[in-house]
Amino acid sequence: MNKKTIAIILAGGKGERAGGTVPKQFIEVAGKPLIVHAIERFSLGYIDGIIVVSLEKYIDKVKRMIEKYGIKRNIDIIPGDVTRQGSSFNGVNACPRDTAFVLIHDAARPFVEEKIIRDVLDAAMKYGVAIPVIETSDTAAFEKDGFVDDIPERGKLKRIQTPQGFSYETIHRAHRSAKEEGITDVTDDCGLVKRIGGKVRMIEGSILNIKLTDRYDIEISEKIIGSIRGKETA
Ligand code: CTP
Ligand code: MG
Repeated sequence: MNKKTIAIILAGGKGERAGGTVPKQFIEVAGKPLIVHAIERFSLGYIDGIIVVSLEKYIDKVKRMIEKYGIKRNIDIIPGDVTRQGSSFNGVNACPRDTAFVLIHDAARPFVEEKIIRDVLDAAMKYGVAIPVIETSDTAAFEKDGFVDDIPERGKLKRIQTPQGFSYETIHRAHRSAKEEGITDVTDDCGLVKRIGGKVRMIEGSILNIKLTDRYDIEISEKIIGSIRGKETA
């Protein structure tokens, strides 16, 4: 049986921090909605299928966008859940039976470079689970009652991005375990794997692969697209 690699793009959030009249995945940057940019990034020969997880009421809107922007891939669009974890589990459950690897990605990171997708997948194939990370430029602190409790060594802290790559069996087991134990709001899929004692390999992410969270991120996104195009055509 042919073993598949499936990309799951999570677009089931409401984008409350970004504000605006539609969730941030539908905001247009460089002439296209962010969700379309994200889908295009994963339209690659070695990705056998793309599943978009959407708020149920926007499924038809996503379908129309896919047609309007001429995306030729066959894309499944399925409903999300109230938490990111639930939306991710819906995506994992919607994968074809012969799925061997999944890449789970935030639609809110529409500028991921192809090299990161490839590196994450290669490392997931080798180690079972892999994530892109970047250094943190700010020092971070643990807080307690309004005071600094402790300051971890900055060099040991990494900022975690997506796409995160998993062997299908591992991520499915990690999701099932969290659900069975009533845990519903893990914000990150590799966190589910760590819960069950799994190993998570880190690869180098990119500062351009930002998660658009508030309206200021949206404002700088045209510039980010310009930088990526510059790099890719250099
Ligand atoms: N997401 C999802 N289902 C949810 C919540 C989030 O699929 N129930 C997706 C979002 O669409 C986004 C990604 O997970 O692509 C990362 O979440 P986040 O940046 O928090 O987006 P939102 O939840 O939409 O934003 P906010 O938290 O500001 O409402
Ligand atoms: Mg959120």
